[in-house]
Order: sequence, then C-alpha cells, then structure tokens
Amino acid sequence: MTSPRPAAVIILAAGEGRRMRSTTPKVLHSIAGRTLLGHVLHAAGTMAAPRTAVVVGHGREQVAAMLAEQAPAVITVVQDRQHGTGHAVRVALAALDGLAADDTVVVLPGDTPLLTGETLAALTAHHHAQRAAATVLTAVLDDATGYGRVVRDTAGGVRAIIEHRDADAATAAIREINTGVYAFRAGPLQAALARLTRQNAQGEEYLTDVVGLLVGDGSPVAARVVADPVEAAGVNDRVQLAAAGRALRDRIVIAAMKAGTTVVDPPTTWIDADVTLEPDTTIAPHTFLHGRTHLARGATVGPECTLTDTIVGAEASVVRTTADRAEIGAGAAVGPYSHLRPGTRLGREGKIGSFVETKSAEFGDHTKVPHLAYVGDAVVGERSNIGCTTVFVNYDGVAKHRTVIGSDVRIGSDTMLVAPVTVGDGAYTGAGSVIREDVPPGALAIREGRQRIIEGWTERRRPGSPAALAAAAAAASPVPAVPDTATPVDSRAVDSRAAQAPEVGTPDAGPHGRGDLAHTSGGEAGIAGVPGAGSRT
Ligand code: UD1
Ligand code: CA
Repeated sequence: MTSPRPAAVIILAAGEGRRMRSTTPKVLHSIAGRTLLGHVLHAAGTMAAPRTAVVVGHGREQVAAMLAEQAPAVITVVQDRQHGTGHAVRVALAALDGLAADDTVVVLPGDTPLLTGETLAALTAHHHAQRAAATVLTAVLDDATGYGRVVRDTAGGVRAIIEHRDADAATAAIREINTGVYAFRAGPLQAALARLTRQNAQGEEYLTDVVGLLVGDGSPVAARVVADPVEAAGVNDRVQLAAAGRALRDRIVIAAMKAGTTVVDPPTTWIDADVTLEPDTTIAPHTFLHGRTHLARGATVGPECTLTDTIVGAEASVVRTTADRAEIGAGAAVGPYSHLRPGTRLGREGKIGSFVETKSAEFGDHTKVPHLAYVGDAVVGERSNIGCTTVFVNYDGVAKHRTVIGSDVRIGSDTMLVAPVTVGDGAYTGAGSVIREDVPPGALAIREGRQRIIEGWTERRRPGSPAALAAAAAAASPVPAVPDTATPVDSRAVDSRAAQAPEVGTPDAGPHGRGDLAHTSGGEAGIAGVPGAGSRT
C-alpha cells in the first residue's frame, strides 16, 4: 500500500532554460526574494519526505552551490546531458537506492514557483485514495500554449499527455494541461521509464509518456485538477517570470492583509516571501520589503521605503527610507530620506532624520541624528544628539576607524569627528569643530579660529550692490536690540544649561562661542544670534 507521505521527492532542475536567454540557470532566477527552485523546495518541504533529490545539469556548479547553502539536506543528482524530463527522473531514481516498489515518489519541476504545499498534500492524498500507479496534477487554463495537454477517454479517465509541440489541432484545443507535478508508485514508474523512446518533436525522453505507457499496461492512472490554476504557471521565459512574480506578490499581500496588516496600496507594495509581519502593522504605498525583513506590531513603513533584511520595532515609523540589514528600535522614527546601511542599530525611541546616512553604527535608546549627517563605524550611547551636518570621519584613505560617543552627549552642528576618537558621557562639542582628540566626560570641546569682523567691507568693495545698499539702509535705521528668541526644546536642555553655565563661566565660551548652550540641544540647527531669526529650521 502506498502512503500519502512520499518516500522521496525528485525536483527537476537540470534544464538550460534556453528561453530565458541568460547565463544564470533558469531555476536560479528570483521572484519575491527567492529563486524559482527555492520556492519549489519550500513547497516540497511541507511534505516532509525523508529524501529529496534535485537533478542538476546545466549550470550545475551554481545550482549546487545554492543548494549547499540553502538546502544542505538535499541530495544533488547530476544529469550530465539533458535528454529530457523522463531521463532526468531515471537518473534520479538510480541515485535513490532502497526504494520499495510501493513507495510514493513525487516529481516536481524546478520552474513552478507558485505551487503550494496544500496542493501537494491534496495530490498525494488523492494518489493514496485512488491506489493509483500515477497521479497527475492538472490545471484548466484559458491559454494552454506551450503546456502538455491531458487527453482523457470518453469515461473521463486519463489516457495520455501530449506535448504541445507534438499535438494535432484537436489535441492543442484541449485546455486541461499537465502541471509537471506527479505522484508515482516507484515500481511502475521505474519499469515505464526503462521503456521511454525519444521519438518526438524534441528528441527527448518525456516523463509525460510514462502516463500513456501505464495506461496501456492497465495500471490505474489518476488526475487531480488544481483548484487555483495560477499554481500551474511554469516559468520558461522572462515574460512568464514577471507574470509569476506578480501573481506571487498578490498572494503574499492578500495573506498579509488577512493576517492583520493594513496595505494601503496593494499594487505598489512588494513583500518578499520570507518577510514576517506582526498584526496591526501598516504599509504605505510604493514600499518594497525584501529578504527577512520583519515589522513588529504597530510599526508603520512607507511611503516609498525599500527595506532589506531589516527589523522594524513595535510602533516605529519609517518614511521614504532605504535600509539594508538594519535594526530599528521600538517607537523610533526614521526618514524621510534616510539611508541605513548594514550594521545600523537604532535604539528605542531614537530618531534618524532627513539626509542621514549610517553604517555599522549603534545608537542607544532615545539617541537622535535629526538631519544631514554621516555616521559610520560608531557606537553612540543613550539620549545623545548628533547635530546637523556632523560627519563621523571614519576613513583615512587606508583603513576605517571607530568613533565612540557616550550617553547624554551633544555633538554641535557641523562637527567633524575624526576617528579613532572618543567623546565621554555628558560632553559637548562646539558647532563647526574638528574633533581629533578624545573628549573627556562632561567637557566642552571646541576648535575655532577667531572670527574677524571687517567693518564696512561691502560698501567699500561692492559699492552699489544690493548688499551694499542694504548695509547703508541698516546703518541709517539701526535695528533695536532683540532678545534671543531661542527656546530650549526640552527640560534636559534647561537642566544642562543650568548645570553648565557656572562652570563654563565666560559668556563667549559656549558651543556657539556665545554662551548659548541650548542651541546644541534637540537637533535644532539654529541661526542663532541673527536678529529676528529663531532657532527653528
Ligand atoms: C514540461 C512538461 C509539460 C508540462 C510542463 C509544465 C515534459 C516533456 N513536458 O514541459 O507536459 O505541461 O512541463 O510546466 O515533461 N529538466 C531536466 N532535465 C532535462 C529536461 C528538463 O532536469 O533533461 C527540468 C527543467 O530544468 C525544468 C523541468 O525539468 O525544471 C521541466 O522542463 P521544461 O523544459 O521546462 O519542460 P516544459 O517544456 O515546460
Ligand atoms: Ca517548464
């Protein structure tokens, strides 16, 4: 008696895939973040067969390398010359010793990425129930072009499969096709394979001819029509590759919505097969989630994000961002226009804002890089703020160096941190400073040339220019003294001002050279000190 659980699965992946016109073997082309063969292996895996053999041939080194990495338990069987699908199964069976005559063997093409585990389970169950020698998975298609046709007798029983290229007009009109997926009893399969000829349009040993041979022997042959014909789609060229990709995306997006993700615009949302989404996540339009990206509960991603192998924490928000192998903490905000490169780890409630690029950079909780900065090869503590246009200068032309920033640090706008360098907890750097030496905890580091004022320069050197006229007008009606309109952005800024003001002492020794420490807080790139201008940007 056969058992529904197959003793072996054989996946055919030796063909050249000539119609792809590619140096990459067909089964290694990808959709939804997995190779075609990867999708088939995934579906096959649900049957939990003790042995799975993949027949490789064309581009075998590349296919075998992918298998060694992604499916090391698989048995790789080499088909030296590709003499057809029947020949491929014959070679595979020779490598699978110890199969009993009644064992079930499932055969799958390597180029049907939409096939599901549920369909394979239904096929093997049907095969078992029918006590068949062979059970073919078929599909009814509107356009059957290129597929083998399922020829039935008047009683509805399967008689044969005829390849499109070998079909006469009447046969070509049949819309029920062979998906290339079968369950066989090992004994009858082996016996029929030995009798295959190459007398057909392609001069190949057709696996499909096994069906006709078994029927001729009087062996029971069954067929199971797949519920959703999209699963039958075989990929032979790049038009079919794109069509299968679109079908798979639709399926993934629908499953995501049913599982509790709001997808604002399904047609412009791409979610790879290995992405994981917790319920109550939201994906805004034009968003691409690749690889093993994960969104935790309450996260919002998009519009216009491309995230690859990136983890987004609960309640975090990511807008117009490209991220690769990054980790975004719970409640953090990223974007718009941020580029998180591999090794970026943003803490809880952190922020990475516009035109910020990060790489191999770890940020503690509540730390912010609000705008216009490069942070590479760095560790930053908690509650620190990296001011606008700061650069972590990590490369000396030969080697990369690390920067370590403590907690509660305020890096002033336009600071160059020349690595290797360390800034201690609670330290400040002044705007426009080039920091080449370590800054101890609590210190203010500032490197500035004295500002020179050359009075009356525009009127002397640019006479008659708009600037000179404006200067003359200003001289005629002096602007009354305006109190500084800058406001501290949070209570910590007030505290730090209060704490540091007495220590710093002189009014011109603050980070801006003006004794105004509040301007380095909260990431505000203030035009401080300009009459009438607040610190908001
Ligand atoms: C095959 C079926 C056809 C079916 C269709 C479903 C045959 C003769 N035809 O046609 O009835 O409708 O699949 O998609 O079986 N391969 C090998 N070694 C070989 C030849 C092929 O491993 O010598 C592999 C290919 O890599 C591919 C699979 O077998 O993964 C199917 O081969 P392909 O050439 O794509 O067959 P189709 O023409 O699509
Ligand atoms: Ca095919």
